[in-house]
Amino acid sequence: MVSRKPVIARKGLFFALLLVLAIFSQPGEMVKQEDFKQCAQSAFCVRQRAYADLTDTGSTTPYELVAGSLEVESEQGIVTASLIDTKRNIPFSFTVNVLERNTARVVIKEARPLAPRYELTGDLALDEKYPKSVPIDNVKHDGKGVTTVKFGENALVVRSKPFSFELRVGGVPAISFNDKGYLYYEHWRQKEATGEVLENEAAEAEGAVPEPESGSEKEKKIRELEKALKKDLWEESFNGKVDSKPHGPASIGFDLSFPGSKNVYGIPQHASSFSLKSTRGPNKEYDEPYRMYNLDVFEYTMDSPMALYGSIPFMMSHKKGATAGVYWLNAAEMWVDVETHGGHDGVLSKAAEYLPFGKGKFANSTTTSTHWMSESGVLDLFVFLGTKPTDIFDSFTALTGRPTMPQHFAIAYHQCRWNYMDEQDVSDVDASFDKYDIPYDVLWLDIEHTDGKRYFTWDKVKFANPVAMQENLAGKGRKMVTIIDPHIKRDDDYYINKEFKDKGMFIKDKDGKDFDGWCWPGSSNWIDYTDEKARALWASKFAYDQYKGSTPSLYTWNDMNEPSVFSGPETTMPKDALHVGGVEHRDVHNVYGTLFHRSTFQGHLDRNDGRDRPFILSRAFFAGTQRYGAIWTGDNFAQWSHLEASVPMLLTIGASGVVFGGADVGGFFGNPEPDLLLRWYQVAAFQPFFRAHAHIDTKRREPWLFGEPYTGLIRSAIRERYKIMPYLYTLFEQSTRSGIPIMRAMVSEFPEDEASFSIGDQFMLGSGILVKPVVSKDQQSVDVYLPASTIWYDYVTLEKASPSSSTGIITVKTPLEKIPIFLRGGSIIPRRERVRRSSSLMLRDPYTLWVVLDPEGKASGHLYADDGHSYDFCNGAYILSEFTYADGTLTARAINKPDLDSDAIKALGSRIERVVIVGLKVPAERALLDGKHERMVESKKTGPLYTSTVRDPAAYLGESWELKIV
Ligand code: GLC
Repeated sequence: MVSRKPVIARKGLFFALLLVLAIFSQPGEMVKQEDFKQCAQSAFCVRQRAYADLTDTGSTTPYELVAGSLEVESEQGIVTASLIDTKRNIPFSFTVNVLERNTARVVIKEARPLAPRYELTGDLALDEKYPKSVPIDNVKHDGKGVTTVKFGENALVVRSKPFSFELRVGGVPAISFNDKGYLYYEHWRQKEATGEVLENEAAEAEGAVPEPESGSEKEKKIRELEKALKKDLWEESFNGKVDSKPHGPASIGFDLSFPGSKNVYGIPQHASSFSLKSTRGPNKEYDEPYRMYNLDVFEYTMDSPMALYGSIPFMMSHKKGATAGVYWLNAAEMWVDVETHGGHDGVLSKAAEYLPFGKGKFANSTTTSTHWMSESGVLDLFVFLGTKPTDIFDSFTALTGRPTMPQHFAIAYHQCRWNYMDEQDVSDVDASFDKYDIPYDVLWLDIEHTDGKRYFTWDKVKFANPVAMQENLAGKGRKMVTIIDPHIKRDDDYYINKEFKDKGMFIKDKDGKDFDGWCWPGSSNWIDYTDEKARALWASKFAYDQYKGSTPSLYTWNDMNEPSVFSGPETTMPKDALHVGGVEHRDVHNVYGTLFHRSTFQGHLDRNDGRDRPFILSRAFFAGTQRYGAIWTGDNFAQWSHLEASVPMLLTIGASGVVFGGADVGGFFGNPEPDLLLRWYQVAAFQPFFRAHAHIDTKRREPWLFGEPYTGLIRSAIRERYKIMPYLYTLFEQSTRSGIPIMRAMVSEFPEDEASFSIGDQFMLGSGILVKPVVSKDQQSVDVYLPASTIWYDYVTLEKASPSSSTGIITVKTPLEKIPIFLRGGSIIPRRERVRRSSSLMLRDPYTLWVVLDPEGKASGHLYADDGHSYDFCNGAYILSEFTYADGTLTARAINKPDLDSDAIKALGSRIERVVIVGLKVPAERALLDGKHERMVESKKTGPLYTSTVRDPAAYLGESWELKIV
């Protein structure tokens, strides 16, 4: 946090020092690794890794099911058993609940904990319509302690001694638990009652425990590991900050293996590859495990498993024919090791089903093993089974919530900077967009717009007339977003502070006083969003009569919600801080930011009586964030490497449910050279959330400031975004029903094509458009992988691409005006070609359909349209049309039966003004709508094939018709 905008330190030497550091450090400086923990500095990570290493030296897991304790309630879909840690003699309960959508929930809890352990209950992180249980089809006991429970195509195979279980799809093993024996559940204990702690403390008091000289290397190693198992059980410190850990050790670790699979994805947020890298074993690419702990990491490092702003403990693995997902419902700090073993992707032979399983069975085959470690909570694991990634997106978001449908404007282009300084500045920027003929929808105000970083207020001088300012923008269909952070200035004259303080709704420190930390306003309080009442009160603050100066066209940006605490350990809240009910922050850390996001969302919903779709951007995120809006990847840098990283980062976040994501275009810190800025716009125009943003110390960089050719080319990129809005909006609507990402990894679209499984540097926008960014300076050409299952066409020339028949790779020239973009044969892509000043001004404009033919001359696609802002679509006020093209005929069919006479539907643009057919072997001459209305067709040769355009086919969206090309 050192080169943040200086804040005026008012008290204490510490803050004065902070300020000096802030002023003198340069924006070019990268994150200081030493400000953030590595595994070796996190006691539970050390203990859990040591446990795994000890197990690898040959010990067997001490966990066993109590003989005869396994019971099955078939109708309820429940399996229960008693589990014992035989070494420490601690009893646990083991429960499996079989759910809809090929999902199973596995819960392991201490049977008799000293006190209840924290459980992240449903409504904090799961959708209210949490999937229902389904009955179990049949159960088989083999008489040797192995029980097979069948549900649908799936089976759960539980082995009692040693304890492990496996899930299979159609007989093929998909996931195994405790195959490596890493299950290690630290039970809650009393400090006095344990010899462990005394040993530990004695060791600390006397310095290092003297190492016995004798013994083999292996014995020495074992002694070291056993000592590591006792590391810092009751207190630990980092960079001088002490975590008091009053409840002592409570971490949980276990291994999950994905037999037959080379690739695992997910567990955001990291500036890393899409297919996760190995962190353990001979093939390791990182020394550190992936960490999930929401942190404000200043100027983050590239290619690293370091934790960033958001965490989603969800992982997916795919091999041909089988996809599996896991989600650990737990919001405490987590680390995950990944270990890949050699071999090739592919379906394991069915014979695998009959092999005995247990410790390390899969270690020598093609398998990815993972080791999950969390600091506290319980083991509450959801397992999703399927045959392709889309099955898992569906089941994971059925559980954690479907993405919310954004307003139409929210997926257009956003212009942000820290800061647009006053109303004149806002007005000038707004006018310049029009002058330079560049569309945009939203102008953003960062923290400087407030009265002294008191959120919900306006700087009285610079923003004296906020209502008029918003109305001016609204007159052109444009919106405004203001920033509202969760830290509240400690000022008794500030109404928000006073009210939450009086009601006792701030997070407390370990001694029960309101926690006092440092953030943008200086000394601050943090609202306890885990408290339902605090969430409701917060939501009420968005009402128009409360948030003075806000109008219906004002939306919200929630930042710093990890939470970022400049004076806290690792720039965040101390883990021993207390929430309502005495819950330690350590238990809820990763979900805190999402609860804030959720409460803001509720506030926007309420202030319009549930009629207007909220738009809220958040920096921190957790599983389920998709229910509340968009996220961005935080404070990136104006460097090519950050542009490059944005693609795998967004793919990972999208595949983990949060489909509405983007990166600051141009890079937040530093000044992008014009070519970097342009390349960024060219790719971000095809990403879900499209916003330019910059740090207060950077030079102004609005698109018109660079001269030609840059301004013109940036204009084209932004305008292209506006042209594909109908396609994009349709993708968003599809995502609200199935959780399918907007920006998709190649494996999601081509689950049968092994070459696509590890690709993370190119992506599909929906299923029809493939994009590969240009990510280095003066790059003359780029290699792109085009799966051989269809034809691909260049997005600009519409010519058929000719990739190498052996590798599928095509080398594309990339002059400044071009990044490689391809249309997938078989798609129908709806567009609007008339670009206006903002997207809402285009809502009534007619459509163009691009019909892009596959090798059989076929194509299909959808178009979704509604009023763009309300929830009337929930009552049927929308149009969803399906288009198919075959045998020279384009057929339209309304999937829903919209009331075409209703005002809501009549207000929508529905005329098709153009149909462009790409990839015809013979040029078309005429077109006939429903056998009548003859239309002229223009055709041109595009490469070896033809593109034919039917103008004004007299066809409308929402109606059924056939357009025959002859
Ligand atoms: C944080 C945000 C950044 C914002 C700044 C000031 O660094 O990530 O986007 O501009 O705070 O509010």
